[in-house]
Amino acid sequence: MAGSEWWRDGVIYQVYPRSFQDSNGDGIGDLSGIISRLDYLEWLGIDAIWLTPITVSPDADVGYDVSDYCNVQPQFGDLRTADELIAEAARRGIKVVLDIVPNHTSDRHRWFIDARSSRMAPHRDWYVWADPKPDGGPPNNWVSQFGGPAWTLDARTGQYYLHNFLPEQPDLNWWNPEVRDAFDDIYRFWFDRGVAGFRIDVAHGIVKDRELRDNPAATADDNPWLQRLGQRPIYNTERPEVHDVLRRWRGLADTYQPPRILLGETYVLEVRSMGRFYGEGDELHLAFNFTYVHAPFAARALAEVVAESELVLGNRNWPVWTVSNHDVSRVMTRWAGGDERKLRCALLSLLTLRGTPVLYYGDEIGMADTPIGREDLQDPLGKRHWPQPRGRDPERTPMPWRKAEGAGFTDAGVRPWLPFGDTAARNVEDQRRGPGSTLCFTRDLIALRRERRDLHAGRYRQLPAPADAWVWQRGSGTTVALNLSDHRVEVPGVTGLVLMGTTGSRHGERLKGTLTLAPWEGAICSSESI
Ligand code: GLC
Repeated sequence: MAGSEWWRDGVIYQVYPRSFQDSNGDGIGDLSGIISRLDYLEWLGIDAIWLTPITVSPDADVGYDVSDYCNVQPQFGDLRTADELIAEAARRGIKVVLDIVPNHTSDRHRWFIDARSSRMAPHRDWYVWADPKPDGGPPNNWVSQFGGPAWTLDARTGQYYLHNFLPEQPDLNWWNPEVRDAFDDIYRFWFDRGVAGFRIDVAHGIVKDRELRDNPAATADDNPWLQRLGQRPIYNTERPEVHDVLRRWRGLADTYQPPRILLGETYVLEVRSMGRFYGEGDELHLAFNFTYVHAPFAARALAEVVAESELVLGNRNWPVWTVSNHDVSRVMTRWAGGDERKLRCALLSLLTLRGTPVLYYGDEIGMADTPIGREDLQDPLGKRHWPQPRGRDPERTPMPWRKAEGAGFTDAGVRPWLPFGDTAARNVEDQRRGPGSTLCFTRDLIALRRERRDLHAGRYRQLPAPADAWVWQRGSGTTVALNLSDHRVEVPGVTGLVLMGTTGSRHGERLKGTLTLAPWEGAICSSESI
């Protein structure tokens, strides 16, 4: 099976549409803007783009509160522009994956407007409603992932509704067959337009405990995320019945030719739990591995996550790796602390592990988080928790295309929806011209991955290595080695040719048993050519 399907072999590139390219001078990126940058993406060598939601939204949670699933947010364009984007991308061999948000709608979706109009409304049971406790308080102890209770009282009808995120994002009731049918139609609507698949928001959490039981308290052994929640969300996420829904969607995706793919946001921090979302090869094609994203940038920690993932997924299931996204601090800041050497080691791991890499826009030029002042905040999480640095705006800022007013992202003089970072220090145009740049490094890495079967399809085997180094073999003829330390390391047992290194100067070097790596250096070596 390996090596036969685009979503296994290829590289997926995550576009945050608001920040990719503005085509109409309103300071907000849009679909026509993305179309105008497809040549760049083709040059970079990626196989598919995943767009965070482009559907209609009042933007309480920047697109993740959807009020119409079958139309395009007017700021981004319209259905015609979406069709054009799909066609123009296809012309360049690029697939389009959209984001779907089935856990909740916007409170302004017509279903919810109807649902809250009366207890007898046709859509009442499309959402999760419950009576107040005798003291008038919420029905149970569940807390929202954004902070505060997961329930809001609807004064008019006298019941609470559930929202695992903002009150403006009421949770759908996935026990209701009408909800299931409605989403089948939404999938079909976009699949029929030629969309290659969906990234499914909160894929692990859409079904809730039918009895709405209280969650148990978190304990001192739990991870920091659960400790902050104060509870283990065992009754409002990861319910066993979610698998029925995932199987249903897989069945639907498989009726298409070529089959459409399902990439799940499985936000669980245990590899074993993540592995369950592949089912028996009949649920998600790819389940995001957040344990990797949240691991410390240290050889042993990362190697352990990969070893466990390989064990859990086995040969049948295909891993997916990412090092940044729109919800976490960018890899340049989080792992690399602004150090280009470290960033390249991270990118090297992303693009050479067994599995599909998902590259977040801007990581290819080493964009860092951009500090955001209070007056510029857009993310509701940032606003709610200010001055705590909980907001996600820093990793969502506009792409710096060139050193110019507007950064090539928008017109000169237009205020972008989020401020630019240091566009003089880092931009696409300058890095495209400099063969030693991180952008050219990333492009070369993608090209090498594509042309070398070992790198896109070969099995992964970790090799013994000195402390602070992480070394693995792909297939039978390729070795990848990373030195994640401040001192030089000697990796024994590597004989062959250096195909590519993080510094650019090692290409073509012949190795006769030892690979010496400078601090924070990595290399890909072939063992065939000696
Ligand atoms: C997912 C999205 C995130 C959003 C949340 C609620 O985690 O990635 O951006 O805020 O779901 O929809």
